[in-house]
Order: sequence, then C-alpha cells, then structure tokens
Amino acid sequence: MASPKKPVRIAVVGMGIGRPNGAALSRNPRGHVVALCDLLEDRMKGFAAELPGEVKLYTDYKAMCKAPDIDAVFVGTPNQWHVPIALEAVRNGKHVMVTKPLADSEAAAQQLVAEAEAAGVVNMMSLSTRFGDSCQYLGNLARDNYFGELYYARARSVRRNGIPAWNLGFIKKGGGAFRDMGVHVLDAAWWILGLPKPVAVLGAAGAKFGPRGRGYWNRSRPPKETYSQYEADDYAGGFITFVSEHGERLGLQVESFWASHQPDEFQIELFGTEAGATLSPLRLYRTDDSGTNEDVNVNLPPGKYKEAWDAIADHFIACILDGVTCKAPLLHGLIVQQMMEGLLKSAETGRDVHIETAEGS
Ligand SMILES: NC(=O)c1ccc[n+]([C@@H]2O[C@H](COP(=O)([O-])OP(=O)(O)OC[C@H]3O[C@@H](n4cnc5c(N)ncnc54)[C@H](O)[C@@H]3O)[C@@H](O)[C@H]2O)c1
Repeated sequence: MASPKKPVRIAVVGMGIGRPNGAALSRNPRGHVVALCDLLEDRMKGFAAELPGEVKLYTDYKAMCKAPDIDAVFVGTPNQWHVPIALEAVRNGKHVMVTKPLADSEAAAQQLVAEAEAAGVVNMMSLSTRFGDSCQYLGNLARDNYFGELYYARARSVRRNGIPAWNLGFIKKGGGAFRDMGVHVLDAAWWILGLPKPVAVLGAAGAKFGPRGRGYWNRSRPPKETYSQYEADDYAGGFITFVSEHGERLGLQVESFWASHQPDEFQIELFGTEAGATLSPLRLYRTDDSGTNEDVNVNLPPGKYKEAWDAIADHFIACILDGVTCKAPLLHGLIVQQMMEGLLKSAETGRDVHIETAEGS
C-alpha cells in the first residue's frame, strides 16, 4: 500500500490577501503553513498566532525562498512584487501560487511564466471569482453545452466609492481599477466562455476621481500627499474579440470602475444560442420553440468548500501531491494580463490593439 504523502509545507508572502489564502491552505488536511513573510512583523505575528504549529517569520523573501523546509510559496504582495518574489521561489525549485493580477506588466508576466514552466514546478493563479461556486456552476453548464454556442458576454465590476488608499501600490503605475477589479470579471467571463483565443481589444480608461481625492473606499478622504500620487486608472472599459477553438467569433464587453456615480455592481451576463444567464443574481433564461419563456432562479446548496479560498487551496495541493493538471496555470494569468494591458494601451492611443497570445491557450 502506498504510504500517505506528507503535507505540503507552504510559505505565505504578504499579510493582506495572504491571510484568507494562508488560512485555507492551513485548514486543508494536506497543507501546512510553515512560514510567513512580510515587511511588517506585527502583521505576521497576528496571523501566526492563528496558525497551528511553529511558523517561521521572514522579512526578506530571498532568504525565505532559500529555506529547504519550504515546498511551495503563495505570493500576495502588491502587484509590482508578484513577479520578483515568484521568480525567486521558482528559481529555488518551489511550487508557486500568485494572487491576481499576475504582474504589473505583460513583459514581467511573460518572464515568470517562461521560467516557471521551464522549472517544471506547479504554478497557479489564486482566482477567487473563477473558483467561486456561482462561476463554477455557470462554467460547468457551458462545458455541458447548456447554452449552445456562447457568442457574447458582458462583465462588469462597478464601485461607487471604492478606490483603495491603504497601499500606494494600488494607485501608482501598475495598479489601478482594471488590474485590481476588472481582472476578476475578465478572467471569470473568459473562463466561462471556454478560454477562447483573444484577437483584439478596443478600450477607454482614465482617472476621474482618484486624483481629486474623491471616490475612495467607504467615502474616506486620504491626505493630499496620497492622492496627489495618483497614476493609475480609476475606470476602464472595453471590448474584446475572440475566436473559439471551432473558429467561431465571440465578443466580450468588460468594465471596471473603482469610483462612479452609479450603484455598486458585480455582474457577468452570458448570451448563448440556446440559453443565457446572469451571475448575480444567479439566473438562467431561455425561450423554447413554443415561445415560452423559462426564467430559473438558481439557489445553490452549500458546496464542498466553505469558501472559494478552500477550493483554490485544495486544487493547488492536489496539483503538487497527486500530479493533477492545473486548471488555473500562470499562463491563464498571462493571457488575462495581455488582454488587460492591450485594453489600457488602446485607451492611451484611441486605437484597437491586436493581441498576440502566448502559446498553449
Ligand atoms: N480576491 C482576491 O483575489 C484579492 C483581494 C484583494 C487583494 N488581492 C491582491 O492581493 C495583492 C495585495 O493586496 P492587499 O489588499 O492584500 O494589500 P495589503 O497592502 O493589505 O497587503 C500587502 C502586504 O504585502 C506586504 N509587502 C509589500 N511588499 C513586500 C515585499 N517586498 N516582501 C514582503 N512583503 C511585502 C506589505 O507589507 C503588506 O502587509 C494585490 O496584488 C491585490 O490585487 C486579491
């Protein structure tokens, strides 16, 4: 009889989003969080106190990545640090999981994917929207051909007052509404549509609230020293065209607003030849041959996982211990990055941008 595999020894970098990810990795019976890394010791101590067993604390990710008693690294720092830290992990033979977005630029994302694939380590995106129950439900219906041919989608993430001011990285170059929030609905819609190949994008983006000190999280007003450094987009929208593996054309309208004079909204709408759907509320629509409308409110039962983070943690660990094929590789993060950067570039020039995706999509 094969002996049970030892739990994966995991290090978590970044004590913001690292906490829900790290807690799920630690809750998993086959995961063991053995180390934390952050520039702020107090943030690490607070989380370490919630974890079982001894946890080593590092303020230097390079030293942490060299530790032989770590098998895998979760990267949850501000965007501009994702690639440097994940590269260091991969170069030391560690498996990696990276929060969204993969990087702060397409070139950095390309380099990481190339090195992670060459190193042969498990490499995965942590995608809380895609791994959520409602998205999984719609994606599975799509794969079962419930919608017929999915030919169009709309995806948007809108906040009224939601610019994050707690971390300058968000409002500086490489951050912004689209890389922070748009990335979730873009990735989830692209995944539900069956990961079609992006062809071109036309976008509009700008900063209408952030540089004026308005639209910040919970209607707070940050000091002028903070908002005067605003360099990112606070809204971005665009239209992406795709071609499916069967050669069919698809369109996706995607929008993301950190601040607006509109109500909060998080939505994906699907248009198929046989049926359509909305994500929130989770609802299916269909008109049959007799002209009868069928509108179905879907109320999912509690799933196998308490939270999307548990589904993500379970899959990452299964990829490492059982050799399961990763269904959210960093390559997906790279292709989403290419769509995002294309949209933002198009917004600068006012012209559409052709997207040359990485191989393997
Ligand atoms: N649903 C999601 O998947 C989700 C939600 C929120 C944030 N995020 C992502 O998580 C990332 C961080 O966002 P946040 O809200 O957690 O920010 P945060 O500011 O709350 O936390 C970031 C932490 O990283 C630490 N840090 C910064 N540079 C570091 C370095 N070089 N080495 C070690 N630690 C470093 C900071 O000290 C801070 O404690 C962003 O990329 C964001 O897009 C994902």
